[in-house]
Amino acid sequence: MKSPSSTISTRDRLIVALDFPTQARALALVSVLSDSVSTYKIGLQLYTAEGPGIVRAVAATGAKIFLDLKLHDIPNTVARAVAAAGELGVRMLTVHLSGGRAMLEAAVEARSPNLSLLGVTVLTSATPETLSETGVNFGIEEQVLRLAELGRKSGIDGLITSPHEVRILRERLGDQMKLFTPGVRPSWAEANDQKRFTTPNEALQSGADYLVIGRPITADPDPRAAVERLLGEIAD
Ligand code: C5P
Repeated sequence: MKSPSSTISTRDRLIVALDFPTQARALALVSVLSDSVSTYKIGLQLYTAEGPGIVRAVAATGAKIFLDLKLHDIPNTVARAVAAAGELGVRMLTVHLSGGRAMLEAAVEARSPNLSLLGVTVLTSATPETLSETGVNFGIEEQVLRLAELGRKSGIDGLITSPHEVRILRERLGDQMKLFTPGVRPSWAEANDQKRFTTPNEALQSGADYLVIGRPITADPDPRAAVERLLGEIAD
């Protein structure tokens, strides 16, 4: 199934994960890629090391920021964190859908107009044992669909999904939610620790709107050429 969001430009479909230990290394890559990449993901490692200054610094280059903090706390605390992210200028922020409806609705209520909330269903590192040891007695796919539906009913804007769940989520949700897919590898890149990856085009053909890609770009000796190659593949 082709993504219904064909109005998204090829360039905007790519989100580069800035999985670096320091601001200096992250900004060095952003300056190399600034002509070709519109959006960067800042995750727990870089945010914990550098704080909100890293968001301001990358946003100051004109880029959009996807802040991947996977919030999961009491509704009031999550709502305040969402509001703070909006004030920082963050454009996309992740929350754990397993936080439940009250937490999700509080997050939605607190979001500023430019901020999209993205729900995390079941982490791809989870196994059936992970679910059962935390008291969830459903299979992974059933739990993913349950949480996705909870996110939709709570007003969440999009979902983070493995490339293998994109198709079923797109079929269930129609075009109501944007789907963001990590675990993507172009044929010419190393797999690294990603085990069940697909190519960028397979993910898009299955219904993904956005691709989150790190090491195939960040670990390439010529990251700019890697981005151009990837964008060329997607455009084709
Ligand atoms: O370097 P790589 O392309 O594997 O990076 C993918 C990014 O997406 C990383 O920031 C990783 O934490 C994130 N991610 C993932 N798989 C998930 C959820 C997030 O790889 N299921």
